[in-house]
Amino acid sequence: MTENTPSVLLTGGAGYIGSHTFVALAEAGYQPVILDDFSNSHPAVLERLAQLTGRRVPCEKGNVLDTAFVAEVLQRHRCVAAVHFAGVKAVGESVQQPLMYYRNNVSGLLSLLEAMAGTTACRSVVFSSSATVYGNPASVPIDEGFPCAPESPYAQSKLMCENILASLRASDPSWRTGVLRYFNPVGAHPTGLIGEDPSGIPNNLMPFVTQVAVGKRARLQVFGSDYPTPDGTGVRDYLHVSDLADGHVAAVQALLAKGESFTVNLGTGQGTSVLGVVRAFERASGRPIPFEFAPRRAGDVAQYFADVSLARGVLGWRATRGIEEMCRDSWHWQQRNPDGYRTQTSDTAMHMPAPVRNSPNGPMRPVVSA
Ligand code: UFG
Repeated sequence: MTENTPSVLLTGGAGYIGSHTFVALAEAGYQPVILDDFSNSHPAVLERLAQLTGRRVPCEKGNVLDTAFVAEVLQRHRCVAAVHFAGVKAVGESVQQPLMYYRNNVSGLLSLLEAMAGTTACRSVVFSSSATVYGNPASVPIDEGFPCAPESPYAQSKLMCENILASLRASDPSWRTGVLRYFNPVGAHPTGLIGEDPSGIPNNLMPFVTQVAVGKRARLQVFGSDYPTPDGTGVRDYLHVSDLADGHVAAVQALLAKGESFTVNLGTGQGTSVLGVVRAFERASGRPIPFEFAPRRAGDVAQYFADVSLARGVLGWRATRGIEEMCRDSWHWQQRNPDGYRTQTSDTAMHMPAPVRNSPNGPMRPVVSA
C-alpha cells in the first residue's frame, strides 16, 4: 500500500456483496473505501475486514442520497472508480413499498453520478444490477440480448438505473460503465469471518437452509414441487459470493484499462434445483435439512440460469467454485456466527491470518469516520 494505490469507492460496501468485494479489491492492489449508512449491515464487519486483509478499513458513515457527502468522500479519497451496491433488494417488499424502492435505488444512483460528475474526474462506475431485469425468460440459458421485462418495482428500479447509465454514456463518452447482472449469490468467505447476515426471517433459500441446519428454524418450505424441471422444484444459477467479488475486480480493471462500457451476466451457467441445494447442503454440513413442500411462491419462475460467455470474453472472468463449495462456506459462516455479526467471536482470532505490524501506512485497525 502506497499513497499511489488507487482508491475505489464502494457504496454499500459494508453489506454482503460489498464486504466480499472489499477483500477481493484489496487483494488485487486497490484501496477500497466503504460508504455505508449501516441500514442493512453491521459495523462489526469492519473489524472482520481489518482482520482479513491486515490493513486499515476506510469507512465513511452516511447515506448515498446525500450528494454533497458522497462528493466530498470521492474527492478526499481521490477515488478512480466507484462500485455502487447501496440499495434495497427484497422483491416482495418492493411490491409493498414501491416509492421507497425507487427513491433508494434510482435516486441513490443519481446522487452518486451527480457527485462524480460535479466534483471529480472519476468517470468509471460499476453498477450492481440483477438477473431479475429479465423477468420470466422465454428460454434458458439467458444471454444479455434477452429482452428485459421486469416484474417487480425492485426489478424496474434496476432497469431504470441501467437506462440512466446508458443515457449518461450517450451524452458523454468519457463515462465508463460496467453493469453486472447477478444471478443468485450465496456462500461466504472461506474463513467464516464475513458472510450474509439477513435481518428477520430470510427471504432467500440459502440463508434459510443454513438457519434450519443450525436449529434456528424447524424446516424449510420448498415452494413448488410441480415445476417443469427435472425434480419439479425451481432451478437457479447459484454463484459463490467470492466469485462474484472477483467479477467486480475484473469489471473495475476492465473499465480502467480498456475504457469500454459493458453489461454482463455474472453466474456460473449451471442450474441447481431447490432439492439439489438441500442435498448439497446436507453433504457439506453432515446435518439433515427437514423440509416440506409448499405451494409455489408468487412471482417465481421455473428455471433461471445464465449464459456466461460474454463475461468471459469481456472480463476474462468465470466462476470457479461449485455448489459444494458454496454450501460448505455458507455452513462455515453460519456455524461460526449463529447470530451473524452480533455473535461474540472470542474464537475468531484462531482463524485469522497473522496481524501485519509496522506498516508504513500506520496502524492496522478500522478507520471509521462519522
Ligand atoms: N425457495 C424455497 N424456499 C424458501 C426460499 C426460496 O423453496 O424458503 C426457492 C424459491 O422458490 C426459488 C429458489 O428457492 O425456486 C431460490 O429462491 P431465492 O429467494 O433464494 O432467490 P430468487 O431466485 O427468487 O431471487 C434472487 C434474489 C433476487 C434476484 C434474483 C435474480 O432474491 O433479488 O435472485 O436471479 F433478483
